[in-house]
Amino acid sequence: MPDTHPNSVVVHSLKPDIAANPIYPALARATLFELHSNLLNLLGKGLSQQPGPKNLVVVGPGSEALPFSENIEVVTTLLNGGNLILLDYNPDICALLPAYLESKGFALRFNITRSQNDNLIDPSGLHNTIVIKQWNIANGFPFPDSSIDAIDMTVSMHHVTPYTSDISDLFRQARKPLKPGAVLHLGEGDVDMKYSERKINKLASDMLDARVRGVWISDARNADSPPRQWHIGNETAEVAMKVSPTGMVSIHHADVETVSSHLLKSHYKQMHLGDETIVLPLIDHAMEEDFQNLIVPVRAYYEAIAELCLQHLDPSYHTEFSKALFKEQSDAVRGIVEYYSSPATLCDALITTGFKIDEIRHTINGPFVNILSINQ
Ligand SMILES: C[S@@+](CC[C@H](N)C(=O)[O-])C[C@H]1O[C@@H](n2cnc3c(N)ncnc32)[C@H](O)[C@@H]1O
Repeated sequence: MPDTHPNSVVVHSLKPDIAANPIYPALARATLFELHSNLLNLLGKGLSQQPGPKNLVVVGPGSEALPFSENIEVVTTLLNGGNLILLDYNPDICALLPAYLESKGFALRFNITRSQNDNLIDPSGLHNTIVIKQWNIANGFPFPDSSIDAIDMTVSMHHVTPYTSDISDLFRQARKPLKPGAVLHLGEGDVDMKYSERKINKLASDMLDARVRGVWISDARNADSPPRQWHIGNETAEVAMKVSPTGMVSIHHADVETVSSHLLKSHYKQMHLGDETIVLPLIDHAMEEDFQNLIVPVRAYYEAIAELCLQHLDPSYHTEFSKALFKEQSDAVRGIVEYYSSPATLCDALITTGFKIDEIRHTINGPFVNILSINQ
């Protein structure tokens, strides 16, 4: 009998993800072609180091498992008789994958199955098999230790790890099923959106400077999980600071006058004062620091994506794409939804958790980065 994964949970609520939008595959083809081609190339390089069949895990394949589904020959060579395991937390995406892979001829070469329970997948007894499993990677990796040769997380990791401290936890979890010398590939947006998390902590520490003893923070920006809570300063905090799903901060304190005048002196701009409450935007476009450190890079990131779409996306998709992009960008400049980390942050976390960086590739076409690392 296979073991049951100890942390398995059923996901009931999902935040909207652009991969669930039917336009996503066209969008991905128009914008991620270089990231995807680097992905296949780097996996080939990483997996060619050792002989034998390979077990490759793809976290967050999306409904068409790009670029794997379009490269059956490359996949066959990469796996060399081994197995491809596709993990996605979205049940609708998992339901679409088998038929799509069949339409691309994969059923002629591979046994395509769905794993419908919470058991670990043990690839040691499988050959030329594609396993599709609905799984939230925040709960760890559902495989025996040292059973996997490569894990790919292409534009999926930032959905799993809104907070910087989660990144190392995720990489530590990823190491468990990886064999020594196995590879972890990350494909991510080449932009630092973790500024919003730093801004929450900065706002709390700026209040400590106003002789506040401690601040309890509750961050409800992520629809996927209950509000994240932590404190800064003394645990017997006198200030409660809540970040709402729309990126507004409310600060509760008996002496609104003192706290607000201190914040104004510390260059905070937009603020609404109520009875024992101060309300302000987490990211304030009127604050030079927020503007330069988040709004400018986020705009540049989405402008580069828009340019790729204008060049490569069929015009019949342009209206739908503009709507999706506008929504994502306006959320990102408010510090909500997308949480890309800088490549430096990712590499630091990889190194401290026991990976060696093999190669970092910044795409020429678009604002993306591929990072190939080796489990030491
Ligand atoms: C933007 S898509 C990327 C699709 C594909 N990897 C590509 O390169 O085009 C992100 C995928 O990650 C999945 N995903 C997001 N968070 C996840 C999680 N915590 N566990 C598993 N899958 C997740 C989403 O459902 C979605 O299919």
